[in-house]
Amino acid sequence: GANASTDDGGASSGDGLITVGFAQTGSESGWRSANTESMREAFSEENGFDLVFNAADNDPAAQISAVRSFINQEVDAIVIAPIVEDGWDDVLQEAQEAGIPVVLEDRTVSSSDDLYEAWVGLDFRHEGVMAGEWAAETFGDTPTNMVVLEGTTGSAPANDRAAGFAEAIEGTAITVLDSQTGNFTRADGKTVMEGFLQKHGSDIDLLYAHNDDMALGAIDAIEAAGLVPGEDIQIVSIDAVRDGMQALVDGKINYIVTCFPLIGDLVAEVVADVVAGNPVEKVQFFEDRPYTQEEAAEVIDEWQY
Ligand code: AHR
Repeated sequence: GANASTDDGGASSGDGLITVGFAQTGSESGWRSANTESMREAFSEENGFDLVFNAADNDPAAQISAVRSFINQEVDAIVIAPIVEDGWDDVLQEAQEAGIPVVLEDRTVSSSDDLYEAWVGLDFRHEGVMAGEWAAETFGDTPTNMVVLEGTTGSAPANDRAAGFAEAIEGTAITVLDSQTGNFTRADGKTVMEGFLQKHGSDIDLLYAHNDDMALGAIDAIEAAGLVPGEDIQIVSIDAVRDGMQALVDGKINYIVTCFPLIGDLVAEVVADVVAGNPVEKVQFFEDRPYTQEEAAEVIDEWQY
């Protein structure tokens, strides 16, 4: 195995470990922390890996540079949680020419799937559909003003959660008052929600947040404006991190769809297979599900992330 500073990398270095460069998005959310921990545990030396970790602070250009540096280090495999979907063709081609297999985890890319071995991730569109189905059932024919806190612009979860939700609320009386990115962070969720409240005040009936962290930031803004989250403004979000589940139990969020972050073990299995030359499935999804406030109360004590 190898790491950035101590040896030449690659399978040839003789310690029997598989050297894996992992290009993580950054550390924007509670979901991301749980995912990073799961990946670090799965890609441990005990399990036969030497992990070279990079977090790009959600800067797509920095993430591509990190992947290039993994190629230069001649790692045995590269795992990417792509910040955005577009812009990957060149560097994925470079990895392929260098004979280094690439596995995507969590998010995907818009490039041809010939350029990577596998994608182990989540069905973001289905998550959006489940969130939208709740909104459609709850509001239906009642004229409803919705605001949206979008995830990172150009990311697979932001694109697909928007599309799935829109599909599910088609034909209802829900209209979008405003929609802006909150970059999947609590801080931006709060700031953007403050702007929505200044502009639209108590006209807002419903908030769709592409992740819990932004919903949690928005809850602060809603309470500071003297409104009651979960009542004056109903909230639906995605991830089901512990703080989100607690807000659901507390009645401040109305509905949450999970996005399962503890996928490190399966990613590590797929990487080991790919490096050994075994066939792997191109796409493997973890199944998500929604939670109501009552259902969340039943599981919160044993919640894993
Ligand atoms: O790609 C998954 C998304 O990334 C999560 O929903 C969000 O919290 C994270 O930042």
